[in-house]
Amino acid sequence: MEHDHTNPLGARRRTLITGAGGQLGHALVQAFGGDELLALDRAGWDVRHEAPPLPWTPDLVLHAAAWTNVDAAEDDPQDAAAANVGGTANVAALGAPLVAFSSDYVFDGAKAGAYVESDAPAPLSAYGRSKLHGEAAAGGRAWVVRSSWLFGETGHNFVRTMLRLGAERDEVAVVDDQRGCPTYVGHLADATRELVDAGAGFGVWHLAAAGDCTWADFAEAIFGETGIRCRVRRIAIAELERPAPRPAYSVLRSERMGAPVLPHWRDGLRACLAEMDG
Ligand SMILES: NC(=O)c1ccc[n+]([C@@H]2O[C@H](COP(=O)([O-])OP(=O)(O)OC[C@H]3O[C@@H](n4cnc5c(N)ncnc54)[C@H](OP(=O)(O)O)[C@@H]3O)[C@@H](O)[C@H]2O)c1
Repeated sequence: MEHDHTNPLGARRRTLITGAGGQLGHALVQAFGGDELLALDRAGWDVRHEAPPLPWTPDLVLHAAAWTNVDAAEDDPQDAAAANVGGTANVAALGAPLVAFSSDYVFDGAKAGAYVESDAPAPLSAYGRSKLHGEAAAGGRAWVVRSSWLFGETGHNFVRTMLRLGAERDEVAVVDDQRGCPTYVGHLADATRELVDAGAGFGVWHLAAAGDCTWADFAEAIFGETGIRCRVRRIAIAELERPAPRPAYSVLRSERMGAPVLPHWRDGLRACLAEMDG
């Protein structure tokens, strides 16, 4: 049954979005456009501090603000935790039902099959640990939505990087021994609305694109869809000598009844490219 988006007084649902300047934040603003929205970027609310005065008490909070620089978190784990753990606690302190976004990087990648909600997390990196502790900080009235490999029309993401590099070079070296589900933020935002509107139970939910691939597969698909003539040289992640270890395998699937099913990552890629063109 779909939930009514109006509160008992007949007003529209009052929804606060944190991290509205980020790529997921942008998509949430679109997907929840029927609500009365307060969309705050970092300048509007740095979540390391308690909430600024708000014009109203929210009925729903969508918490998309986060430290997302995975490599930088290795050198600066305390600052990453201040944003991802302390920040989530500050957002939960509002007391409203909360969607807290988390990551496939809470897993170590050693499982033979897709990760479901009941699998034990074992983060490999400071970022992954901060996201896992952030999940706990979200409290008992939260949907903890884990997703993976996000991309969208705005911000820093793999699609935008490949479009730039593909225009400049004949060949790019791309990791071929990390497998996951590239998820379009528009599809994640729609699935989040579906989850909340259905009145789904709180707790952890895995919402990631259908299908899976390596970064190299994804790069080839980006070039294939756009007609960019750039070769993909498949490399091992070890060749990049990045500070933060990543899970080699982090395909997310849901084992929960009523979990929204997202479109395939190729459809997400096409939808994203179409938005960029438009
Ligand atoms: N990106 C991925 O591949 C991925 C995968 C799985 C899960 N996630 C999770 O999905 C959520 C959204 O990620 P995203 O991809 O949209 O990241 P994003 O584009 O980097 O957006 C995050 C936003 O949060 C802001 N922010 C950082 N620290 C803040 C603070 N202390 N207070 C307020 N705002 C702050 C950032 O502002 P500045 O730009 O000014 O720093 C940025 O606008 C995060 O929880 C992330 O951990 C992401």
